[in-house]
Amino acid sequence: MHSIEQLQNIINKAIADTKYTAKPAELYEPISYLMKLGGKRMRPVLVLISTELFKGDISKALHAAIGIELFHNFTLMHDDIMDKAPLRRGNPTVHVKWNENTAILSGDVMFVEAYKLMIMVDDSILRQVLDIFSYTAAGVCQGQQADMNFETRDQVSINEYIEMIRLKTAVLLAGSMQIGALIGGADKEQAALLYEFGENLGLAFQLQDDILDVYGDPEKFGKQVGGDILADKKTYLLIKAVELAGEEKSSELNYWLNNSDAEPSKKIKSITTIYNSLGVRKLAEIEMDNYVKKALYALDKIDAESSRKALLRGFAEQLLIREH
Ligand code: IPE
Ligand code: IPE
Ligand code: MG
Ligand code: MG
Ligand code: MG
Repeated sequence: MHSIEQLQNIINKAIADTKYTAKPAELYEPISYLMKLGGKRMRPVLVLISTELFKGDISKALHAAIGIELFHNFTLMHDDIMDKAPLRRGNPTVHVKWNENTAILSGDVMFVEAYKLMIMVDDSILRQVLDIFSYTAAGVCQGQQADMNFETRDQVSINEYIEMIRLKTAVLLAGSMQIGALIGGADKEQAALLYEFGENLGLAFQLQDDILDVYGDPEKFGKQVGGDILADKKTYLLIKAVELAGEEKSSELNYWLNNSDAEPSKKIKSITTIYNSLGVRKLAEIEMDNYVKKALYALDKIDAESSRKALLRGFAEQLLIREH
């Protein structure tokens, strides 16, 4: 069994060794650029941990793990265009460094490269793995479209928000673990429990991401702090603030929302002040903890060695005290 750090090193080495040198260079250079900016490598680590949880051989899962990281980076490349984000992992986003068309097409070819890696799994599970991967990828697109639709909607319920983040973020964590489990030889029931773990962890993870988007340390976060506020994203924080605001704060919120003339730093500061006065950060943290608990409950039910499960529990706990 490998430690988390060893798994991260294996993944980072595999990524460092992969060169995207096909032509035209403009299509492939952004792939190397984004992949080599780092990142937590959470999804490929989850693939490999899931394989080892069932005593599988991680060398059989490495291509799929990198395929999933490539897919994730493709979604980031397009997400940054959609979210008008200037920064990713502390560096200029691809559409800023090159241009939007380059980021669109480079992202498209990344998705193809991801499939090329996914089909390297054993023939015996190929169809199942591709089915999960395709289903997951469609889910991410559905969640991303809901996220965009919500930007211009005044009322979004907490249930709608949870379903949106389930699709855009949680299904990829869950799918990564399901694929890892399949490669490790888990049966359907065990793989389903691991899916449940990943899905709940993913919901907690996106809630945390939304909190960090407002409260993260700009030096460590690597993305523009306040980006969600500027884009009128219907995050847990905003939905709760709209719900809890009295007359005065409601009209202040309404003044800032959908206000394209607003001075960005003033908008961020004013909305953050409203969040602070209503205590919505605490509420989001409580919601996050509930999903972590649900995830750990699913993990408890999994039939695997307790030392292997402990590794996963530790990884989940670490992830949720992250700063970027
Ligand atoms: C960013 O994912 C997108 C979300 C789902 C919040 P990560 O926070 O895993 O990004 P990297 O890969 O570590 O940079
Ligand atoms: C994006 O959510 C989830 C994806 C599918 C990429 P966010 O838009 O919150 O991700 P970040 O904050 O830009 O990483
Ligand atoms: Mg974004
Ligand atoms: Mg987004
Ligand atoms: Mg975010």
